[in-house]
Amino acid sequence: MVKICCIGAGYVGGPTMAVIALKCPDIEVTVVDISTQRINGWNSEHLPIYEPGLEEVVKECRGRNLFFSTDVEKHVAQADIIFVSVNTPTKTHGLGAGKAADLTYWESAARMIADVSKSDKIVVEKSTVPVKTAEAIERILTHSRKGINFTILSNPEFLAEGTAMKDLFNPDRVLIGGRETPEGQKAIETLRDVYANWVPMERIICTNLWSAELSKLAANAFLAQRISSVNAMSALCEATGADVSEVSHSVGTDSRIGPKFLNASVGFGGSCFQKDILNLVYICECNGLPEVANYWKQVIKVNDYQKSRFVNRVVSSMFNTVSSKKIAILGFAFKKDTGDTRETPAIDVCKGLLGDRARLSIYDPQVTEEQIMKDLSMRKFDKDHPAHLQPPSPTSIKQVSVVWDAYEAVKDAHGVCIMTEWDEFKKLDYQKVYDSMQKPSFVFDGRNVVDVDMLRKIGFIVYSIGKPLDPWLRDMPAVA
Ligand code: UDX
Ligand code: UDX
Ligand code: ADP
Repeated sequence: MVKICCIGAGYVGGPTMAVIALKCPDIEVTVVDISTQRINGWNSEHLPIYEPGLEEVVKECRGRNLFFSTDVEKHVAQADIIFVSVNTPTKTHGLGAGKAADLTYWESAARMIADVSKSDKIVVEKSTVPVKTAEAIERILTHSRKGINFTILSNPEFLAEGTAMKDLFNPDRVLIGGRETPEGQKAIETLRDVYANWVPMERIICTNLWSAELSKLAANAFLAQRISSVNAMSALCEATGADVSEVSHSVGTDSRIGPKFLNASVGFGGSCFQKDILNLVYICECNGLPEVANYWKQVIKVNDYQKSRFVNRVVSSMFNTVSSKKIAILGFAFKKDTGDTRETPAIDVCKGLLGDRARLSIYDPQVTEEQIMKDLSMRKFDKDHPAHLQPPSPTSIKQVSVVWDAYEAVKDAHGVCIMTEWDEFKKLDYQKVYDSMQKPSFVFDGRNVVDVDMLRKIGFIVYSIGKPLDPWLRDMPAVA
């Protein structure tokens, strides 16, 4: 029986290994993590991450050929294939701070693998890492122990949160990069055989190591660039009277462009896009390519601009001040169907509003109060993409309450900001919402989920990204 061990039981490692276990009953899969809390979660009724369809798969496989353990060394020693799926945040200090990937967790995992291994291993890079990380890892592994062969593969994961299970069951492609040596090619085949249990062969792409590593950064940069492109258009739409949804639709019907990923929003979030682009920018700079670095940097700058533009719209339409006004924040996660808040645009928008002394009442169906308070208290570190919105002071955190019901959040509020496109926000009884709010009542839709005409008929003043402006907003001072 082939044994797989995955180091890191997070958003990538957990779901990916659950699907491998489901589709490959002959493989024993163990997911290990240094965090006891995480592993306990995976072994309990309440999984540590929310992902539609995940619970069913875990329940079916757990205890059969899927295991979760904190005994990292034991399972690494026993495995034939080791996936490394640890976190790689952006460095917050020292060389490359604010841009380069922090490989501390990766390096410590690699050293541990080198220490405990007694047999040959295939080591698979699963977390997104800078190009040429595989080479560094290879050096750590091969220099530490003689007689054991470590073969490195890069197998970046393309799943998106909220649709992780769907993406894993039916991926557009599986990418496997390896050395062009006989051992490298043999390892590629071994891993390809695992995926071939459910992925059609023609969707399994095999490349060299560097192409696989760079493809992941490139794919995320292209996706984020599409959103910044449409968001840049949304600002122009508001200025000209064009409707961004109509523009997106028209542009997307060109088969060379395609219709997906063209929804204007308050900005992209999530653990990958910003981190991977910063990483790409850093790699370009290190390779003496400042023009290329600046090109990609602009994608992040437009994303920051979109968030501050939103805050300015809220403040300027409410008579240039939100001081002491209650504002309801509907949705805090970075997208629907996940409880993840990493880099969510809601953080910057809330900080901006708190900076203007608003009182916030926040509701998200999947995010805890503890998480929201933690996110709002953290300092956003950045050098090259400056912290334009400072963390709120301890006093302004007192201006935040987290509630468990959308109607409670909006009660007596002057304005409602929709930050996440949860389906339930489309179905709210907006007449009831209107009746319970202060007048005039404002809705600022950062995800284009509401029916603008219907809300205006009820009496709301509505701002929706990239849509023709409400006469009220048109008369307000220009937005910076
Ligand atoms: C992304 C990539 O899609 C995935 O392939 C990679 O493996 C990890 O990074 P994820 O961050 O989970 O996945 O979600 P994604 O659906 O890409 O959304 C990212 C952000 O962009 C979200 O905040 C989302 O709301 C926003 N978005 C997405 C838009 O604003 N408009 C769109 O049209 C699409
Ligand atoms: C373009 C648009 O495609 C068309 O829809 C619009 O009506 C007019 O402008 P055109 O300029 O005739 O058409 O040719 P196109 O095929 O778009 O190529 C434009 C340039 O881009 C060419 O120099 C082409 O060589 C280059 N190109 C195109 C690339 O370098 N790489 C590509 O992948 C595609
Ligand atoms: P991702 O979104 O990429 O999956 P997460 O942060 O959700 O990232 O998960 C990464 C996991 O890796 C965390 O649960 C963390 O505790 C774990 N981890 C980090 N370093 C190690 C290590 N050396 N050994 C085992 N687990 C680790």
